Amino acid sequence: MKKLQLLGNITPAQFLRDYWHKKPLLIRNAIPGFKPLLTFSKLAEAATKNHVESRLVTLSDGQWDMQHGPLTELPPRTQREWTMLVQGVNLFDEKADALLREFRFLPDARLDDLMVSYATDGGGVGPHFDSYDVFLLQAHGKRRWKISAQQDLSLVEGLPLKILSNFTPEQEFVLEPGDMLYLPPHYAHDGIAEGECMTYSIGFRSPSFQEIGEAFLQFMADSIDLPGRYADPELQPAKNPAEIPREMLTSITEELNKVRWDEEDVTVFFGEYMSEPKHNVFFTPPAKPLTVGRFMETAAKRGLKLSAKTLMLYRGKHVFINGESFAVSRADKIVLDVLANERRLTGEQLAQGSDDVLEALYTWYSDGWVELG
Ligand code: SIN
Ligand code: CO
Repeated sequence: MKKLQLLGNITPAQFLRDYWHKKPLLIRNAIPGFKPLLTFSKLAEAATKNHVESRLVTLSDGQWDMQHGPLTELPPRTQREWTMLVQGVNLFDEKADALLREFRFLPDARLDDLMVSYATDGGGVGPHFDSYDVFLLQAHGKRRWKISAQQDLSLVEGLPLKILSNFTPEQEFVLEPGDMLYLPPHYAHDGIAEGECMTYSIGFRSPSFQEIGEAFLQFMADSIDLPGRYADPELQPAKNPAEIPREMLTSITEELNKVRWDEEDVTVFFGEYMSEPKHNVFFTPPAKPLTVGRFMETAAKRGLKLSAKTLMLYRGKHVFINGESFAVSRADKIVLDVLANERRLTGEQLAQGSDDVLEALYTWYSDGWVELG
């Protein structure tokens, strides 16, 4: 793989080997001439929406406060020390989606979203740590980052947000537009706006094992098959009627031990799980959907692309899209793998798809998962 300016002129392999999960990396001029993708007013408008996750963090007289969106009212921009954070900007802004996809040297199953923060002078969310890796791209104005590898991650109790009790910065940098800072999980940091500023966070997904386990057992509930019913032809008279007979438990244990899963079950579960859109994501079907015939004609000319909200993954013959899974033929797999990787299909590529694939694409188009190119 080639060297990326985005990573400070090292290759993704070098970055993953030396920095990922290991140590911070400051990249000056990661994106030369970078300009903010959306204005303050567009961001503020997004924060008023129900389906957009947003927060307002204020600091006044040394008191931290946090309010969850929708944010109908913001402090004046002339007031110091407040921050508005908007999650999932990539879901409603095409340019933000394109920026997030610059990070596809990492698998889609790990990429989460693009969060945008706007802060007035002195604003920030306080010294804290995150459980995930993050790339902090300075989009507008300046922000001073103080960071620390400290082991003491104790938090101030009783606050509406995570603030480290004892933050001891070890390094600090002032980031300007186009500069980027990578931080591994659990690395203490505090970013303070110097004048009005905007910072974009490229965030990652790493579900907890507990969360995965619970979801997996729910998935298995739909797929286990244990025929028959408990029976005890050899039953003995009960001496202590309230006591569960040992034989009964033995037989139940034996039956439950028949619940098995293999790699295929795990693949289908995990693909469906990781491609499930977040609860606040709603697809917008086309206002005037074309008929199948017109759709096929138009798609043959213009091609197709996935909606920015669509999550599409695959493994082997299994294709996953927005929480649904399909086992596909070898020929269809070629077409669908291209769609998943490129997030678009040309008319020529589309022509390779079977009737099944075309039918699925039409359904996805009708649901707003896929759009005409
Ligand atoms: C911010 O953009 O203000 C906060 C980002 C972070 O520290 O994770
Ligand atoms: Co953070």
